[in-house]
Amino acid sequence: MKERLQQLKEEALQQIQSSEDNKQLQDTRVYYLGKKGQITEVLKGMGKLSKEERPVIGQLANEVRDTLTEALEEKDAELEAIKINKQLREEAVDVTLPGKPAQNGGPHLLMEVIRDIEDLFISMGYQVAEGPEVETDYYNFEALNLPKGHPARDMQDSFYITEELLMRTHTSPVQARTMLAHEGRGPVKIICPGKVYRRDTDDATHSHQFTQIEGLYVDENVRMSDLKGTLNALAKHLFGEDREIRLRPSFFPFTEPSVELDISCKVCGGEGCSVCKGTGWIEILGAGLVHPNVLQKAGFDPEKYTGFAFGMGPERIAMLKYGIEDIRHFYTNDVRFLKQFHKA
Ligand code: PHE
Repeated sequence: MKERLQQLKEEALQQIQSSEDNKQLQDTRVYYLGKKGQITEVLKGMGKLSKEERPVIGQLANEVRDTLTEALEEKDAELEAIKINKQLREEAVDVTLPGKPAQNGGPHLLMEVIRDIEDLFISMGYQVAEGPEVETDYYNFEALNLPKGHPARDMQDSFYITEELLMRTHTSPVQARTMLAHEGRGPVKIICPGKVYRRDTDDATHSHQFTQIEGLYVDENVRMSDLKGTLNALAKHLFGEDREIRLRPSFFPFTEPSVELDISCKVCGGEGCSVCKGTGWIEILGAGLVHPNVLQKAGFDPEKYTGFAFGMGPERIAMLKYGIEDIRHFYTNDVRFLKQFHKA
């Protein structure tokens, strides 16, 4: 029996050593140490032993069991370590491989144009003002000398929410709001960028939502020549020192007289081409001297104060400046379009 136990021990140790995975190791454990395993089989013969031999064999059997258990544990740890190392090798990241470059965002072209114009006017002493996009009929029209039923309301097809509320069709209501806040005391010198809405069918040159920048200067003795000088500075800042400007008579209910600002066409140098529609001039914005009715409604004395106002579309300016042929490019957010205008 002694020999049999020794023999089993040697045999088992060898098998443990040569095991290649945990499954094999587990099978070996069951085969030798399990309830119906080899050692147990041997011990079944204990009954036949003499009183003296029994404790000796018992002790030996325990030793064999301890030795094997220890060997199994060691081997198990060893196999586990091999497995982990293999996994680490296989899943290793090659840090020398080139990475995916991060895509940098940047301000939208429209924001760039708006900020550029804001900066110019801030440098001339203007403040930036804002107003609500959901506007009352009063501020959008009435306060601007456009009473209900006035035919000029048709110039700006509107999205009405209720009888009295609409999406503002222009940034001009901010003129009235700001003047009221000044309680009849000048000067008022503001620039007002923002979104506006019109019931238009979207195409290459129309959008139901676009942006505008409004300007307003009210003080004593503000004259047409002040407006002209300001617009001249704006046109040259935006399109270059070599551009000529001209003011062409126009009509807006909230200004009198009203003008439109044209700049000379750079594409043809005044000869006439498709960009300037053969005229040599390109229309940029609407402007004029603030109508006395508008001053009065906003609490300013038209005998004492005069002013000028202008309104322009940053989309139109960007389209002319960068040769963009479709207004929808501003809103569809195709990165290929947008990233052409990122500075860095
Ligand atoms: N609000 C006018 C428009 O949207 C533009 C404008 C503003 C004209 C201020 C004159 C003075 O067409």
